[in-house]
Amino acid sequence: MSKKIVITGGAGFIGSHVVRLFVNKYPDYKIINLDALTYAGNLENLKDIEDLPNYVFEKADIVDASRVNEIFQKYQPEGVIHLAAESHVDRSILSPLDFVYTNVIGTVNLLNAAKEAWKNDFEGKRFYHVSTDEVYGALGAEGLFTEETPYSPNSPYSASKAASDHFVRAYGETYHLPFVLSNCSNNYGPNHFPEKLIPLFINNIINKKPLPVYGDGKYTRDWLYVIDHAAAIDLIFHKGRNAETYNIGGFNEWQNIDLVRLLINKMDEKLGNLPGTSDNLITYVKDRPGHDLRYAIDATKINKELGWYPSVTFEEGLKLTIDWYFDNQEWLKNVTTGAYQEYYGKQYGGR
Ligand code: NAD
Ligand code: TYD
Repeated sequence: MSKKIVITGGAGFIGSHVVRLFVNKYPDYKIINLDALTYAGNLENLKDIEDLPNYVFEKADIVDASRVNEIFQKYQPEGVIHLAAESHVDRSILSPLDFVYTNVIGTVNLLNAAKEAWKNDFEGKRFYHVSTDEVYGALGAEGLFTEETPYSPNSPYSASKAASDHFVRAYGETYHLPFVLSNCSNNYGPNHFPEKLIPLFINNIINKKPLPVYGDGKYTRDWLYVIDHAAAIDLIFHKGRNAETYNIGGFNEWQNIDLVRLLINKMDEKLGNLPGTSDNLITYVKDRPGHDLRYAIDATKINKELGWYPSVTFEEGLKLTIDWYFDNQEWLKNVTTGAYQEYYGKQYGGR
């Protein structure tokens, strides 16, 4: 079966893994990677597949409605997998409006373009919106987010993602646009931009720079290897039920400080350092405002309905991730010059 699928944000962290999976696994599909190439987008992430005949790149900003429409009219895609977003909580605190433009207005532009291109012929069509568990807000020490947990976003990032989720659902109700949605926990793995905890700390350990742990370091996240998220997206896109939400998680909760200690341990081993060498890099810094205490996912639904379960343990995933950053230090160097230094100065001061 031949299918044209627009994947937005395909040059970013998760998007590049989704694009690679689809391009390699479905040679009969045409994959259109729609990405604005912001600071987080990098075509280097897709070097290995960029010449394949079933892949095409379109540089476009989803805030630009006419450009988005033009692409939908040109390709007449049957499917959309929407990942393009401003994705970093700390940046959303510094600059909330950027998140409203891309995450809310950009999503509505895509919904309009799909609705316009599909007219009322929805047979075989699907708009898949990729979202985050952060829309559910913060958990206390107990409990898990289920698909029924009420939305309660606390950061400008999660508020913008929550708004986009609501728009997708509203287009389903109002215009019968076929959609599916997923809310995933924290990802980690190759190609992760070094503004997020794991790649930032890998980069800082390599460069013997302080590791800025927010607050008391007792905040908890549920970590999933990015390849397992991409596999879940493939399953949901093809087999998920229309108008449903699927929670995706790693069954893998870590307090930040424990994760940082594990990472230091693995990094020192990799660097050939004596155990504990990098411990003194840990630096407790001022907390993130509105910092969510804990995220944890109940992924029973996707497991029961679609048979999905993470394929790698955290130990394995972390090893693969560290190895990737060591093997790709050029990539790391290239993304941490210029604008990155400017952001780093703003976020972490003189550290
Ligand atoms: P990322 O920041 O690494 O990549 C975002 C991509 O979107 C980049 O390629 C960027 O160039 C592109 N983009 C940004 N603004 C754009 C615009 N206006 N027009 C077109 N393209 C634009 O993000 P990520 O971590 O890969 O996250 C991808 C998606 O998954 C996001 O929707 C995010 O909310 C969601 N998500 C992420 C995580 C996570 O842990 N990273 C977890 C759950 C859900
Ligand atoms: P992050 O990777 O930004 O993901 P999110 O905020 O979307 O969960 O942060 C993960 C956790 O690590 C979160 O509790 C904030 C914390 N953190 C730090 O302690 N220091 C840092 O420099 C960063 C970027 C994050």
